[in-house]
Amino acid sequence: MLATENLMKEHQLILKYVDLMERYAAFSLKHPDAPLLLEKAACFIDFIHEFADHFHHAKEEDILFRYLGVPGVLTHCNPVPQMLMEHDKARGYVRNMEQAVQEKALTTLADNAAQYARLLTEHIYKEDNILYPMGEAGLSDQAKTALLKEYAQTDERLDSPAIWAKYEALCAELGLALDALAN
Ligand SMILES: [Fe+2]
Ligand SMILES: [Fe+2]
Repeated sequence: MLATENLMKEHQLILKYVDLMERYAAFSLKHPDAPLLLEKAACFIDFIHEFADHFHHAKEEDILFRYLGVPGVLTHCNPVPQMLMEHDKARGYVRNMEQAVQEKALTTLADNAAQYARLLTEHIYKEDNILYPMGEAGLSDQAKTALLKEYAQTDERLDSPAIWAKYEALCAELGLALDALAN
């Protein structure tokens, strides 16, 4: 039984957006007359707020990290405070992006988008390859059953199928829009 499979699947979609956002940033800096990132920034910021921060973290921060904080689960070291610090750092980049959109400051927007992308790529690598395996090893089957039940309740409360459908469609749309201009 895996307690983190669900969250790793969410990471894959987050990484797709992060990759797209980097490509949008690179394209916009090369073609300032077509500041694509400024035009589509609201889509990326909406995804980060709704999917990454609200939907993913409702399970990661509010459920998984709570279970990992139970004494005896993480025995060697506890990377959770570092992960929480990185979540906060990421939120800072998004706030800067929002401000840059208001000021129509393309370079600042692209810079913060690139920093967000870099941070998230490294952050997700650490979660997938270090923290989550530690959790899988340390959580008892009983704890995993309880945790999965809480995930299911959260997914139901937040209407997981609707969120996935919305953001997978938006991801495809953003990819096509960029490909159409770049080719
Ligand atoms: Fe995280
Ligand atoms: Fe995560």
